[in-house]
Amino acid sequence: MRPRVIVNAAMSVDGKIALRDGQRARLSNEEDVQRVRRLRGGVDAILVGVGTVLKDDPKLTVKPELAADRSPLRIVLDSDGRTPASARVLDGRAPTLIVTSEACDRTFADADVLRCGKEQVDLGALLDRLGDRGIRTLLVEGGSTVIWSFLRAGLVDELKVFVGSLVLGGRSAPTLVGGGGAASLSESIRLALERSDRLGDGVLLEYSVVR
Ligand SMILES: NC(=O)c1ccc[n+]([C@@H]2O[C@H](COP(=O)([O-])OP(=O)(O)OC[C@H]3O[C@@H](n4cnc5c(N)ncnc54)[C@H](OP(=O)(O)O)[C@@H]3O)[C@@H](O)[C@H]2O)c1
Repeated sequence: MRPRVIVNAAMSVDGKIALRDGQRARLSNEEDVQRVRRLRGGVDAILVGVGTVLKDDPKLTVKPELAADRSPLRIVLDSDGRTPASARVLDGRAPTLIVTSEACDRTFADADVLRCGKEQVDLGALLDRLGDRGIRTLLVEGGSTVIWSFLRAGLVDELKVFVGSLVLGGRSAPTLVGGGGAASLSESIRLALERSDRLGDGVLLEYSVVR
């Protein structure tokens, strides 16, 4: 059975998830940081694209007291094996899976490797393989390109967006969802608003994806 897929991200009021040069910006407030910690603690795996690893170098770990029984699996979508050996996801502090294409033969000292897809990672096939490994819930934390791919492929169940009370602007700053984008409204991804809550000085919007 494929895992339930939850996308979670923080953005500015104008939909940006980073600065104009792609550098990380703290868009969450303290309340949202706590919420994301709890969310991470309740999932089986946390996934990002290699673009996020290269820009943000996230740890993707969960404090032991918040992890249900074991650390969630850290997953990086990395078709060509570009994750630097110094990346924090390769620090050995939690299990890590680097998912490459079948064309890539790089191996990683502190991570398992899954070859999945001809040129880019095949997300449907990946979810099947994760389901086989007992992964029931997968948290997708970005970035922009990866969120588009999951939404476009119809693989997302829930979308949670924290909207910080700030504007970043800039055409080149990545938005919540990038990728190819819709050519017409009929290609848009329809969402149903399930909850909206004030969270400190920001807003949390929670959607389900209409299939
Ligand atoms: N505010 C937030 O909540 C938040 C969270 C995370 C990231 N960010 C920001 O997001 C930005 C990074 O986003 P990004 O769009 O540049 O990179 P990304 O989405 O993290 O990674 C994209 C890369 O993943 C690889 N990939 C492999 N298989 C894929 C597939 N099936 N679909 C899509 N991608 C696949 C591709 O590289 P290969 O072809 O080499 O495999 C692709 O270029 C950074 O600026 C970061 O700060 C913000």
